Amino acid sequence: MSISSRIQHEGLRQRVMTAEAAAALVPAGAHVGMSGFTGAGYPKAVPQALAERIGRLNAQGQSFRIGLWTGASTAPELDGALAKVNGVELRMPYQSDPQGRARINLGEMEYTDIHLSHVAQYVWFGFFGKLDVAVIEVAGILPDGRLIPSTSVGNNKTWLDQADRIILEVNRRVPAGLEGMHDIYYGTALPPHRKPIPMTAPDQRIGEPYLRCDLDKVVAVVETDQPDRNSAFNAPDAVSQAIAGHLVEFLSHEVSRGRLSPQLLPLQSGVGNIANAVLAGLNDGPFEKLSAFTEVLQDGMLDMLASGKLSHASATALSLSPAAQARFERELDFYRQRIVLRPQEISNHPELIRRLGLIAMNAMIECDIYGNVNSTHVMGSSIMNGIGGSGDFARNAYLSIFMTPSVAKGGAISCIVPMVSHVDHTEHDVQIIVTEQGLADLRGLSPKERARLLIERCAHPDYRPLLRDYFDRACRDAPGKHTPHLLGEAFSWHLRYLQQGRMLP
Ligand code: COA
Repeated sequence: MSISSRIQHEGLRQRVMTAEAAAALVPAGAHVGMSGFTGAGYPKAVPQALAERIGRLNAQGQSFRIGLWTGASTAPELDGALAKVNGVELRMPYQSDPQGRARINLGEMEYTDIHLSHVAQYVWFGFFGKLDVAVIEVAGILPDGRLIPSTSVGNNKTWLDQADRIILEVNRRVPAGLEGMHDIYYGTALPPHRKPIPMTAPDQRIGEPYLRCDLDKVVAVVETDQPDRNSAFNAPDAVSQAIAGHLVEFLSHEVSRGRLSPQLLPLQSGVGNIANAVLAGLNDGPFEKLSAFTEVLQDGMLDMLASGKLSHASATALSLSPAAQARFERELDFYRQRIVLRPQEISNHPELIRRLGLIAMNAMIECDIYGNVNSTHVMGSSIMNGIGGSGDFARNAYLSIFMTPSVAKGGAISCIVPMVSHVDHTEHDVQIIVTEQGLADLRGLSPKERARLLIERCAHPDYRPLLRDYFDRACRDAPGKHTPHLLGEAFSWHLRYLQQGRMLP
């Protein structure tokens, strides 16, 4: 077997083996912490070999499942492969794989969906039990055994520290030029010994570029040569362009009122097509010398760095379409000076989000007339993806903005409803709602004031009369006049959709 020059530590070169041999070291029932955050930096060979082994054993009637922990979502080679063979007992903290989603919604896989900033500390606190195995993709191993991180950092520092055994995947496809882009902070501690995190600007480096690793725990090193797999984004359409337009107008208004400077404040942009399209809008907007302190760096932010609108960006993962990834690799020297990749406990840290004063922009599934937001569930019961970092940012940001088209499924669903079928962000964490219809600035408003504004500014015209009617009757008939609801009717729109395929009567 020819061993890559990326494995420079002599002892670890001796531990190189096939993915199948490494996967055989994972015991049934193990808690396995894998790298990966969106389709970036996840192990590619060992999870597939593990899935094959699980499939084989399950076909022989032996039950073999694992607990799977990651940074966030991954890709078909990891989440997809393991979900396909029903190999995951419990998944946490975030996933977006269609097969995984189907297993969860069929009740065949348990799923713990938690704020991404909480994951590392909960594992440190021992809330999830022991971490047995870590499977971590890296870009290379230095002669002294320190690890060059890959395209995401996520929870890797915690998995390496907490796991009993470590399997490393060294992926020679990861650009070598990534070295130096990461900033791994080792100053976190457990309460009551915590100290302030010494960061006052998004581009500040407070750690070191490499991951530390106890080499005695490394049981296998596997070489791979496979690209990350992130999906392409939908091109911005009229709806997402209208959302972006309202947002740019609102931010310009905040600048003219003196509440924001023309450089705004550091941007956080959520996952998905809408968030990506809004960045395209900001790239065409009037603001200059922007910065970002965010979780994932999607195509839109890369465009803003390239155009110079964005001076620098801090994130925990690259989440680039294949075309954007190619451009990133071609111009890596340029981007290495402008991007810092950090552990997710730092990229999403409430202390830093509050201190830096972010403009948090996240997509949602639906919100209700009082401003409660559902980011995760379809019709109350079925998971879409998970809360991800949206809660970390929404509660602690300077501005907390949620966006959605006013309708979904060709108009059969209104994304503004009487009462959300699941709550992720309460009315207390939501300041601004934007749809293609308009923007509702809810800051400082009472529940009834919020309802009137949301209905008139954000709801689709087809649903506006129905929302007005619900709200007026609730104000008249509900026993309490603070946040009036008709409890017998509050979920009737969702019920109608489930029974008749549309929310409109
Ligand atoms: N009811 C039912 N389905 C809905 C819906 C609603 N009210 N609103 C949207 N959807 C469906 C869409 O129809 C679409 O379905 P499809 O994939 O079958 O076409 C899907 O949800 C995605 O909607 P889209 O409008 O393309 O939005 P998106 O790609 O921007 O994703 C979220 C929106 C909310 C699903 C996504 O942003 C998410 O998972 N957010 C939670 C995590 C998060 O915010 N992370 C960021 C932290 S940094």
